[in-house]
Amino acid sequence: MEPIERATVLVTGASKGIGLSIAEEFAEHGHNLVLVARGEEALQRVAERLKTETGVEVTVISRDLTEAGAPQKLYEQMEQSGKSVDILVNNAGVGMSGLFREGDYSKLSSMLQLNMLVLTQLTHLFLPQMLIRKRGRILNLGSLVSYFTGGPNWAAYVASKHYVRALSTGLSKELKGSGVAVTLLSPGATATDFVKTAETKDMLAYQLPIGPLPKQIAKLAYHACQTGKKSVVPGVFNKILAFVGELHPRIIAFEVFGFLSNKKR
Ligand SMILES: NC(=O)c1ccc[n+]([C@@H]2O[C@H](COP(=O)([O-])OP(=O)(O)OC[C@H]3O[C@@H](n4cnc5c(N)ncnc54)[C@H](OP(=O)(O)O)[C@@H]3O)[C@@H](O)[C@H]2O)c1
Repeated sequence: MEPIERATVLVTGASKGIGLSIAEEFAEHGHNLVLVARGEEALQRVAERLKTETGVEVTVISRDLTEAGAPQKLYEQMEQSGKSVDILVNNAGVGMSGLFREGDYSKLSSMLQLNMLVLTQLTHLFLPQMLIRKRGRILNLGSLVSYFTGGPNWAAYVASKHYVRALSTGLSKELKGSGVAVTLLSPGATATDFVKTAETKDMLAYQLPIGPLPKQIAKLAYHACQTGKKSVVPGVFNKILAFVGELHPRIIAFEVFGFLSNKKR
């Protein structure tokens, strides 16, 4: 597909980590941005810097996307501003590790809300207008973990990323020939604040010397999204793991992944 020029790109979770790098990458290519996250100060700092460095237009929307009605309000705010979203980056997501039976249920429920329902609703809201314009891209943040059948020690998080993968893959097929494409981005363990908030530091997978940096992930994601590629797994080592994860019998990969998901106790 031909890249979209001078797009308006809405990035959720754009204040730091992978989302921030993706926003920077789009700005460096001259696209206007709408940055969404909870922390307003961090978003404003990013916006001022990107405006100065790249000259693009940057709008900041500070919002907790898990609050009731938040995706709908975000959509309405964009409608009222008269800006059409050409590229939607569903990046905001959180993780939660530890034994399922010991996890706090409200935290678990909020994670599932953000990782699955917010992503789904934003896609459902912004897609119709992209289809009318025959111009649009949706970039969904999945994870390498979705290439393994399940993940002990972060079972619900892994399940949420399976959902993102299945939705993205199915939708991508539905949209063939429409001018709109969905790209699934599946990073492996990446050094961001996710490690702290999801408490994955003690997991073996997060102690291996792996993984491209957010900046490198963002470059691959930008290219994949603009060319309408269905899926991208950044990094050679992660690509090997994704391949191994789907080898039959999948129980072997499941056991290996279970080992990598172990926490030092
Ligand atoms: N890091 C990894 O190892 C890894 C691997 C595979 C996939 N991923 C996926 O990559 C995505 C980005 O993760 P990251 O590693 O960049 O994490 P991060 O550095 O913790 O960034 C998360 C972003 O999401 C925002 N956010 C969190 N909760 C939100 C809410 N309720 N409403 C609105 N915004 C919210 C955060 O800003 P505020 O806190 O200010 O809201 C921040 O901008 C996630 O979907 C994650 O599952 C990460």
